[in-house]
Amino acid sequence: MIQKVKGTYDVYGQYGKKLLYVEKLIRMFMEKYNYEYFRTPIFESSSLFHRGVGETTDIVTKETYDFKDRGNRDLTLRPEGTAGIIRSYIENKLYGNNSMPVKAWYYGPMYRYERPQSGRFREFYQFGVEAFGSDDPMMDAEIISIPVNLYKALGLKEIKVNINTLGDDESRKRYREALIEYFKPHLESLCEDCKERFKKNPLRILDCKLDAGTDIMKKAPKTIDYLTDKSKEHFENVKKYLKALNIEYVVNTNLVRGLDYYTHTVFEVEANVKGFGSQNVLCGGGRYDNLVETLDGPRTSGVGFAMGMERLMTAIEYEKIELPVINNVDCFIIPISENEKQLGFEICMNLRSKGFITEIDYNNRNLKNNFKLADKLNSKYIIIIGNDEKISNILTIKNNITKEEYKVELDKLVDFFNENINKN
Ligand code: HAM
Repeated sequence: MIQKVKGTYDVYGQYGKKLLYVEKLIRMFMEKYNYEYFRTPIFESSSLFHRGVGETTDIVTKETYDFKDRGNRDLTLRPEGTAGIIRSYIENKLYGNNSMPVKAWYYGPMYRYERPQSGRFREFYQFGVEAFGSDDPMMDAEIISIPVNLYKALGLKEIKVNINTLGDDESRKRYREALIEYFKPHLESLCEDCKERFKKNPLRILDCKLDAGTDIMKKAPKTIDYLTDKSKEHFENVKKYLKALNIEYVVNTNLVRGLDYYTHTVFEVEANVKGFGSQNVLCGGGRYDNLVETLDGPRTSGVGFAMGMERLMTAIEYEKIELPVINNVDCFIIPISENEKQLGFEICMNLRSKGFITEIDYNNRNLKNNFKLADKLNSKYIIIIGNDEKISNILTIKNNITKEEYKVELDKLVDFFNENINKN
């Protein structure tokens, strides 16, 4: 038997229903926030991610799925969505319209060659948003509010919002110098990767999974102490807006995020529910005011986030949230024999076209097995069609819960269901 590839999973059954419910909620949210749906390719030129995500990030150095196509092009399965959206923003010249920031949302699979474990897959789905063309801290607060409000709407309670700031270019430069100064005498005690990071991008040392938690890391300089006045003001305003929106947050000065592109605000939302496991970051994001330019676009501010759908679904399960998924059909149709099948099929399609969830026996089961199946499907009503019904055009509709029976003329059938079934 051929099995699924390590780090991937299948969706079906109840999980599929719940996932569709959450996806629907996301679409409704994005409509209200007035974000535009974007879909970009799953594979892009490898150079997009090298430059976009950052040469020194774990994602690019260790985790990308790179391949050559038959035309010898270097391609990469996208490890995240931001770089592709920016490529699209630049290539389609969406910066032309200055009247409004471009607010994009996207949803789809991402690929990272990570060690699979609970909450960490090699193919996983992200819902993400990116807003271009506003450097106003109000936009940072709006971006943070989207996942927080979505989690609230789903009923999640045990979440924690961590925020930090990396500041503008000048602040980041000062901070980088402070990090070099600080880590230089400790280089020997850092892991091999960190020695390399020290040369290329010392900020990445703070993101190391091996050295995390050591004393050297804990005592490392904090971004917050190297901010320019302008950067401080930006961060103060982000916090002001979050307070105005009643969004509780914690300033976590160790938060730097695992991608190179951030400036100013960075944030992550964690699941705090007991037993969730170590991969508890439900979503993360921040501002990236240099990235559009790095990818050859005009200087444009940007801010966004992405959330992992698998971790969200696990949080819903761990917090024991019952999502309102539909687990029953409105009507199950049983044609007694071949003779009544066509009429049954027509009725089935007609009810479906009027908005009722309708099933029919496709397998010529006997009555007993059909009743069992109707129960399994939690069917509210059953219609058995025999020769008499076919000739008279009068159907017997059985309420499968109360067991009451009703005689209804064929052309009054839809009226009956309209009266007796609440479609919402
Ligand atoms: P990220 O922190 O790399 O950020 O990923 C965002 C979220 O994707 C994580 O918080 C996590 O929920 C989920 N995730 C990441 N890797 C995995 C995995 N291997 N398995 C399951 N879930 C995973 C980004 O991707 C940035 N593009 C976010 C962003 C958008 N920043 C600005 N705009």
